[in-house]
Amino acid sequence: MSEIEIFPVPEAVAKSALVDDARYQEMYKASIDDPEAFWGEHGKRIDWIKPFTTVKDVSFDPHDVHIRWFPDGTLNVAANCLDRHLATRGDQTAILWEGDDPAESAAITYRDLHERVGRLGNALRALGVAKGDRVCIYMPMIPEAAVAMLACARIGAIHSIVFGGFSPDSLANRIQDSECSVVITADEGLRGGRRVPLKANVDKALADCPTVRSVVVVKRTGGDVAMTEGRDVWYEDITASQPAECTPEEVSAEDPLFILYTSGSTGKPKGVLHTSGGYLVYAAMTHQYVFDYRDGEVYWCTADVGWVTGHSYIVYGPLANGAITLMFEGIPSYPSASRFWQVVEKHKVNIFYTAPTAIRALMREGEEPVTSCDRSSLRILGSVGEPINPEAWLWYHRVVGEERCPIVDTWWQTETGGILITPLPGATALKPGSATRPFFGVLPVLVDGEGTELAGATEGNLCLATSWPGQARTVYGDHERFVQTYFTTYKGYYFTGDGCRRDEDGYYWITGRVDDVINVSGHRMGTAEIESALVAHPKVAEAAVVGYPHDIKGQGIYAYVTLVAGERESEDLRKELVGWVRKEIGPIASPDVIQWAPGLPKTRSGKIMRRILRKIAENEVGSLGDTSTLADPSVVDDLIANRKS
Ligand code: PRX
Repeated sequence: MSEIEIFPVPEAVAKSALVDDARYQEMYKASIDDPEAFWGEHGKRIDWIKPFTTVKDVSFDPHDVHIRWFPDGTLNVAANCLDRHLATRGDQTAILWEGDDPAESAAITYRDLHERVGRLGNALRALGVAKGDRVCIYMPMIPEAAVAMLACARIGAIHSIVFGGFSPDSLANRIQDSECSVVITADEGLRGGRRVPLKANVDKALADCPTVRSVVVVKRTGGDVAMTEGRDVWYEDITASQPAECTPEEVSAEDPLFILYTSGSTGKPKGVLHTSGGYLVYAAMTHQYVFDYRDGEVYWCTADVGWVTGHSYIVYGPLANGAITLMFEGIPSYPSASRFWQVVEKHKVNIFYTAPTAIRALMREGEEPVTSCDRSSLRILGSVGEPINPEAWLWYHRVVGEERCPIVDTWWQTETGGILITPLPGATALKPGSATRPFFGVLPVLVDGEGTELAGATEGNLCLATSWPGQARTVYGDHERFVQTYFTTYKGYYFTGDGCRRDEDGYYWITGRVDDVINVSGHRMGTAEIESALVAHPKVAEAAVVGYPHDIKGQGIYAYVTLVAGERESEDLRKELVGWVRKEIGPIASPDVIQWAPGLPKTRSGKIMRRILRKIAENEVGSLGDTSTLADPSVVDDLIANRKS
């Protein structure tokens, strides 16, 4: 193995940061030795209406999985993100918005945001939305998306954000599953100069969603959209007449804050449920410590609010901390490959948090688009969503950060609510490609296939042995599925679905998913979902989807398709199938490769051997392993001979 370069914490960073290594060790030990005391103390970082007296009540026992943090406390999440900052920083910017068009930007103060949230909260109440009701948010990256989230939180409604890139069908499935009564959307989104027909998508979706009574529409582009009488209302119209004062609903720490759908290895996406108190404590604390956030700094997370990263690290964590959070409507390549760095220069961004796929795509464009912009404001860089390859890490560090800025490679998941494994800028020597060490209160364990815990430097399946306040509580409407998915594979542990290596320094290296989930440009997808979209096409008899290494996307989507008897393989049909998956799920699920497969490798009991399909897609046909159990081993030769690269 090649020598791994280690980047020690620069002395100046260690001195000025919130925690240095000694402090990390001390706090980590305290958090594991006595979690009640540790979280009892850190739980106080947010404002409680009624303070909690119990810190945690948790069981990972598959017969009785329950996860409760600060259960007898009450609070309001929006009041924590807004009201409590008004006295000290009412006139400070809360959201710094940068439009798709570089000529458009806006600064929204905490006072202004508080008022906007109050008006929408009142308007939603006037539409009949009450505590516990579900509201679907299908929005572009405009400030109203954050306003909508916080307005729900203010009145105790549960938001369910659906990423604007999902198709009407995907949107409909999610609305139906959580029985939303209201959808908040915009006429159109704007990304890379192109319009996204959000309202038209909502109209299509709602043909099958009887629970939806109202659709609130923000005017973003002014494009022509249909408004259904009695159902659709303009955001501007319903908020203008409302007062800015909106009484915050007092909710229990364990009342739901949001549902967010995410893909697993089987079935439809799951509605992961997060609750209020523990989630907010964890999002805020990790935001402060992981990014070493200091008052007045400009912090930019490039995610979309449609993903968990946007929830925890654009909206809830930063706003709970009174931070300046930058929200970007556009894409890294528009109008040019310099856009990220132009925004950094324009807004003097101090902390920048993005995904490896963006880094890899920008790396291809060379150094000039980066170095032509002033990045001297940058202090900390972050990475999230997928493993970052050392080459991309080193480029990010050298070219973007001028070897000055520590990189925090943060590992976490929709289900974890916040960052679990990560360096801390002032405490952790960095190894490119490693998410390094656990955050406070996080106890990772590696287990073998039988669930036996492995010690020392080793590789295995990544589990968590204890709970942390940001952990998901259930799958909406299906607690059994929650238990089955995360707590039955390895008894007594939460199983992440990731494989992981631990080195001799106790650093963790995420090796990727060990289940049938793939990670395409940092977007998580179940191969089963793409397969069911493909077989829904009348000409497709069978389909098997696997991931394969892709230079920019991390993983690409490789689909093996068997046509129904009598159908002819053709380039046109291939294109049609790609378009079909885009329509069924959304553009992010478009297969990169479709290989015609007259037969799929199956065991005699009819189970598809994905291991073999993965090897062929990865072009590792020399190491197919044992194929003797196949019903018809000759199909493998055919697949190898017709492999698409
Ligand atoms: O496989 C891991 C990968 O992304 C998965 C979680 O995806 P999602 O729920 O969409 O959340 C993404 C944003 C938190 C994980 O199971 N992943 C996430 N971060 C990293 C990562 N893999 C390696 N390194 C990371 N830093």
